[in-house]
Order: sequence, then C-alpha cells, then structure tokens
Amino acid sequence: MCGIVGYIGNQQAAPILLNALKKLEYRGYDSAGLATITDSHVCIKKDAGTLVEVNTKHQLNELPGIAGIGHVRWATHGAVTASNAHPHLDCNQEIAIVHNGIIENHQELRSRLSARHRFTSDTDTEVIAHLIEEYASTGSSLEEAVRLTSRELKGSYAIAAVSAKEPGKMVAARKDSPLVAGIANGGNFVASDCLSFLEQTDRIIYVEDGECVILTGDKVSLFDNDGHEIKRTPSKASWKVDEATKQGYDFFMMKEILEQPQAIRHALMQDRTLMMEMALEILRARQVLFTACGTSRHAALIGRYVFSRLSSKFCDVVMASELGYFSDSVDKNTLVIAVSQSGETADVMNGVKKAKENGATIFSLVNVVGSSLARMSDRVAYLNCGPEIGVAATKSFTAQLTILYLLAYTMINRFDQGVGQLNAVSDLIADNLQHNGLEVPKIANRMSRKNDFYYIARGINFATAGEGALKLKEIAYVHAEGMPAGELKHGTLALITEGTPVVAICPGDYTFDETLSNIAETKARGARVIGVSDRQEPAFDEWIEIPEVDEIFYPLVSIIPLQLFAYHSAVARNLDPDKPRNLAKSVTVK
Ligand code: M6R
Repeated sequence: MCGIVGYIGNQQAAPILLNALKKLEYRGYDSAGLATITDSHVCIKKDAGTLVEVNTKHQLNELPGIAGIGHVRWATHGAVTASNAHPHLDCNQEIAIVHNGIIENHQELRSRLSARHRFTSDTDTEVIAHLIEEYASTGSSLEEAVRLTSRELKGSYAIAAVSAKEPGKMVAARKDSPLVAGIANGGNFVASDCLSFLEQTDRIIYVEDGECVILTGDKVSLFDNDGHEIKRTPSKASWKVDEATKQGYDFFMMKEILEQPQAIRHALMQDRTLMMEMALEILRARQVLFTACGTSRHAALIGRYVFSRLSSKFCDVVMASELGYFSDSVDKNTLVIAVSQSGETADVMNGVKKAKENGATIFSLVNVVGSSLARMSDRVAYLNCGPEIGVAATKSFTAQLTILYLLAYTMINRFDQGVGQLNAVSDLIADNLQHNGLEVPKIANRMSRKNDFYYIARGINFATAGEGALKLKEIAYVHAEGMPAGELKHGTLALITEGTPVVAICPGDYTFDETLSNIAETKARGARVIGVSDRQEPAFDEWIEIPEVDEIFYPLVSIIPLQLFAYHSAVARNLDPDKPRNLAKSVTVK
C-alpha cells in the first residue's frame, strides 16, 4: 500500500505533488510528506496524520523547488509517527526517497549499514536511502546508485529518489509494486497510479518489474536492470479526470453505490469473441480455480454457484493468500480465474505467479487497465466501472458479478439473453436504490447501538451474507459475521440472545423456505431480524425490500441495500466511510 508520486518540470512542484497525493490517499492515509529540491538542497516536511492534517500543520504546498517527491503512508514497519513518515533521507540529507512495498531483508541491510549510517526511523524503507548514499559516495550517478541498490533489495518496491547533487533529475524503480510514468507539457511524473496526475496528462508509460525510469523536466527514459535503454511507446490512460472526483457527494462510497446500475451496463460491454473464447476454455479446462481476496472473493464465490447452476461447470474458489499452498494440485490442466478490482493485490499476484510457474492458464477479471495482474494474464475481461476510490469495494463487486453471469450465459451459448437480462436487472436496481435510499438509513439509525451482527443466507446468496458483513466491519467497525444459514445451529446460535441483530438474506427463491426456518430458530432465541427479501414476512422485525428477479440474480439486487446499510451505519457513528482505520484500497503487501 502507500502512494508515491514524483514531479519534475517547470512549475513549483509542491502544489502539484499535494494535489496528486490527494488522489492517492485511497492507498494510505496515516502519514504524509513531501521533499523538494531547491538551491542544491533537500527541503522536507512530513508527519503523522491525514494529508489535510499534515498540510494544515506544515504547509507542504509552500516547499520551494521545481522537482520533488511525495508520499501517503499505510504503515507496515514502524508505528505511525513523524519520523516513520516518508520521504526518508540519507545521512547527509542530500538524497530523499519515497517507497511503496516491503523490503524483506531490511534487518540484514540495516545491520550492515548501521556502523556507518545514522538511522532515524523504524521503517524498512530507510535502508534504501542509505544504500543509495553508499553507492553515490563512491562516485555513482543517482540512476546507477538506484540500480545497484535495487539489486540488493528483497521484497517489493516502487521507489522514487531525488538528490540535491543532481537537481535536474529524478530516478524511480520498481519490483512487484505498481509504478507508472506520465509525460506532460512542461513536466513529467512518476506515481503509483496515473489517477494522481491525470489533470496534467493522460500520456503514460507503465514501468515493468526490474526497470528503472529517469525523469528530467523534458524527458522520460526507461532502462532495464543492466542499464540498457528500453524504448516503449506511451499509452493513453483509460480514465477521465472527473471520474475520480466526488461530483458533489459527501463520500466516494455513496457516489460509487449509486453508480451501480451504470456499472452493470458498462461491464456488459464485453467483446463477444473474447467472452466466447473464455467460456470455451472454462468449459474445456479439467480444473477451474477462482482466486481473489475480500470482496472480489465474495464475487468469485457467487460466480461459482452461477457457473454450476447455469452452465453445470463445477469450480472451486481458493483465497488468494492460500493458493500457493495448493501448488501440488495446480498444473497445466488448471485454469485460474483471478478476480481483482485493482489488479495489484499482492496476495493475488503471488498466488497467480505460482500457478503460472506450474503451467496454469490465467484469466483475470480486473478493473484497472494495465495493472500488473492484467499484464500477466493470458486473457483479461475488464470491469469497465471507472475508478473506485472508496476503500470499501461496491461497484467493482457488481461489475465482477455481471461478467461472471455473462460468462455463464456464454457457456450455454446465450450471450444475448444474458445481456438482455442483466440490463433489465440494472433498471430494477436503479428503482430499488431510490426506495432503499430513503428506507435503509432509518433502519441503520435504529440499529446504531448494536455491536454484533450475524448475516445469514443459503446457496447462491451465502456469499452476499459474507459481503454484507464485511462492509459493516470495515467501515462501521461493528463486529459482523456472515455465514450459511444452515451452519448457524452448529455453534454460532449460542451467541444469539435477546435483541441480537440477524440480517437474513431471504429472497423468494429456492433457498426461501429453509432460510425462513433458520430465521425462526434465531427468533426463538430473541433475535431482531432484518429481512432482505422481495417478500414481506411476519418474522422480519425490519424489512429491506429488494425487487423480484430470476433466482440467479438475487445476489446482485441484495448486496446493494446492504452496502447502503453499512454506509449509513458508518455515518450514524460519525465515521468516514471512505477512509476506514487500518485499511487501504490497494493491498500491495503480502
Ligand atoms: O483490488 P482487489 O479486488 O484485489 O482487492 C481485494 C480486497 O483487498 C478488497 O476487496 C477489500 O476486501 C475491500 N476493501 C473490501 O471492501
């Protein structure tokens, strides 16, 4: 996690970097800092706190100079303190660096360097600044020092470095953490994500693992590990500036929840031939494994039911952080379908890399065009839902489901029917959002003093229970468990007492009668039941109404009011749903 950015050009760097960091805050927001180069020395300001807090305290935007680097942090090594905030400096305060990733051999490097270098932080990152210093002190240029340093680092990194001794340039490098360069009029950028500099340019160059990029005010040059120049034609960023703004909403999360009808329609804009080829390969594969984390894994769990119910194709879902442990069973007859909004999640990348090494074919469902996962996949279906900034995944989930439905329909040769049905569901969701936009906040307010929630559902709806619970946990900090309703009586029922909230996803489908029986079991112990259903039942103490749809589509229509419920539960508790504590949008560490 963490976001890094660098700018070098003909304008004051600090305001540009600050603006860019605002767009990267989704990657981390526990500390922030900037370093600029002016009159051959490094100016630096950094502290713990959000970007706004740090800027208010230190006026980051006033740092002088036309070259600089910036950072927003999500702490991994070292507490959230001013000294652990980035940028980090060498002993002479002439070299400044920012880093996203984890240096796994930092202890070993620190022990080696500490006799000659003065460390001022507890981070893994600081060794990079001192290593660059070591090489620079023996006459290496900044780029040579960064290249030699990179060879010594184990783990993952995207680094940007500036040196007071070479003020006209900036050097960046990457391995297993995202890095993209931007070519603008009057200046150039490097950053974790092109969203940060889209206001200045949409001409981008993806930096690959092992590569190093040298930026001056008017040139961006790429080099491989051995210092050989690489020529790469810039591409055009696929997102527009205004897609990454709140557009009048208080929080990105609300904007993104409301965008879901449109997200479904955009996700349906898939190339028919690609869908047919993917569907055919899925049907032919001896073993199909979905892999993903968090919300994307919930989408995969639903996809598994859809593939089975609609296309009679059995698949398994393996949590990405666990996929490596199944290496013995993954081979060239395995098709791995990786599902990821960011395409940068370290657990996903790691699992997929191992599967690829074993000969597996990799398909991916990804939102971020050009992301690492997309680039290493044999086939990619893009979610097309635009940038998702809120840490809680919402529209990417519905877009992922849409493509999974479409693939299942394509497997039975009914692509057009799939498109038609999903478009109709998207209209129903738009109507239902209006209704629940008014009703769900009232329920969330009535429940705002409750601290333990149990989400239950059966069959295809079971993962919706997990996803609803995940939303409530991550943004409202309320303990919640999602589980198959039938499993409740095998232990968890012991926790249901007078007034315990039970959110039952109980649509009028093949799971209805049995879920209702499980609801009765909780009510008999005093549960307060919030029923999510197209039918109003006497057993429901609160009713969240969803539209009646074909049974396979209930996950799509049920999750949206549960996102709203989590959102309003967070707001009722005075929490910022876009920036939940301890979390970041893109989890680029293992
Ligand atoms: O970018 P990805 O889809 O790979 O991210 C996976 C999870 O980190 C992500 O879904 C996470 O669980 C969300 N914060 C949930 O809202």
